[in-house]
Amino acid sequence: MTSPPKQTKQTVTVAGDQPYDVIIGRDLTAEIVDALPDSAAKVAIIHPPTLRDSAAQMRDALLTDARNVITIEIPDGEAAKTTAVADYCWSVLGQSGFTRTDMVIGFGGGATTDLAGFVAATWLRGVQLIQIPTTLLAMVDAAVGGKTGINTEQGKNLVGCFYPPRAVIADLAVLPGMPALDFVSGLAEVIKCGFIVDPVILELIEADPSAAVDPTSDVVAELVRRSVQVKADVVASDLTEAVGGPSAGGVSREVLNYGHTLAHAIERAEGYKWRHGAAVSVGMMYVAQLASLGGRLSDEVVERHRNILTSVGLPTSYTDGQWNKLYDAMKLDKKTRADILRFVVLDDLAKPVIMEGPDPVIMVAAYNEIISD
Ligand SMILES: NC(=O)c1ccc[n+]([C@@H]2O[C@H](COP(=O)([O-])OP(=O)(O)OC[C@H]3O[C@@H](n4cnc5c(N)ncnc54)[C@H](O)[C@@H]3O)[C@@H](O)[C@H]2O)c1
Ligand SMILES: [Zn+2]
Repeated sequence: MTSPPKQTKQTVTVAGDQPYDVIIGRDLTAEIVDALPDSAAKVAIIHPPTLRDSAAQMRDALLTDARNVITIEIPDGEAAKTTAVADYCWSVLGQSGFTRTDMVIGFGGGATTDLAGFVAATWLRGVQLIQIPTTLLAMVDAAVGGKTGINTEQGKNLVGCFYPPRAVIADLAVLPGMPALDFVSGLAEVIKCGFIVDPVILELIEADPSAAVDPTSDVVAELVRRSVQVKADVVASDLTEAVGGPSAGGVSREVLNYGHTLAHAIERAEGYKWRHGAAVSVGMMYVAQLASLGGRLSDEVVERHRNILTSVGLPTSYTDGQWNKLYDAMKLDKKTRADILRFVVLDDLAKPVIMEGPDPVIMVAAYNEIISD
């Protein structure tokens, strides 16, 4: 049985042209101060309404005689990822006289870090950025990897750029404030990292599922560190999602899409009322069945998907009679190339491969395996 190491502050470095550290621990205000360069005479903390008090505390902790710190409150969740909100932030930065050496802090869930990253990347063609993710999903996924983005009427994340932060500081002390269902939804991405790259993640959860859903546990600290490491390794080998795949020896960033092809279709079919992680959970169960029916994956690993996802309270099945709708939605997905569906599937644990244009008969059969009773 694998037990997590004693909890301390941990650092994962994301390699690239501009490498940066992801610091994971609890009560990390000192680390935020350390990450601020002396050159930053002005700092703007961009945050959602839910984190107003914490943002004010952070402002007070960062203020010095030589450094002015302001807070910029933006709308909650996806409502933050619009040109209007970016425009509002640009105008506040302009009125405050922000220069190239000043600093933006993205403090919130993935929607906030996506918007704050985009604002930092575009103001004066790029000012310094620290990401302080406050949801499990943002810690293990959105804030790591340097992708920023906003939505347009045509769809999610259609405008954005790659813009690595100076540092990412994941303070686990904020996690108990999250709604439990949102926390569990974030665990779907953690489990994804376990299946595609690091099976120790699976062992840790299987050994103690109740610790995995307890944001105060040492197990969660280790799960976050390992998931960040997976994302860091994958993005470092494929920094800009090169068309045609990463350069020699690298792993395509597309493997992070494990479970996501069907998940995006479910989210669309459900009018975006399902949590992303719940849809990814069903999506992973689906591709496990697809790989099994395609003769790639053992029944044992398929059952491991079902058991681990269920053990933390994630769904593994979907409504009957929806296949045509989901299929049409998958064909519209922006990741679909030339009308051919692409799924990340496993040949075995930690052996992800791309399955292109699977036999429609197998696709339907896999769907029948995940229909709820
Ligand atoms: N850039 C990337 O690579 C990438 C990757 C994955 C997801 N994303 C994006 O991330 C977003 C989803 O992120 P999310 O799930 O964190 O959603 P979110 O940012 O909408 O946050 C979810 C909710 O939790 C609240 N919240 C945040 N921190 C909290 C805390 N500590 N305590 C209590 N409440 C808190 C927020 O105010 C919000 O209401 C999507 O917009 C998605 O597109 C980006
Ligand atoms: Zn995801």
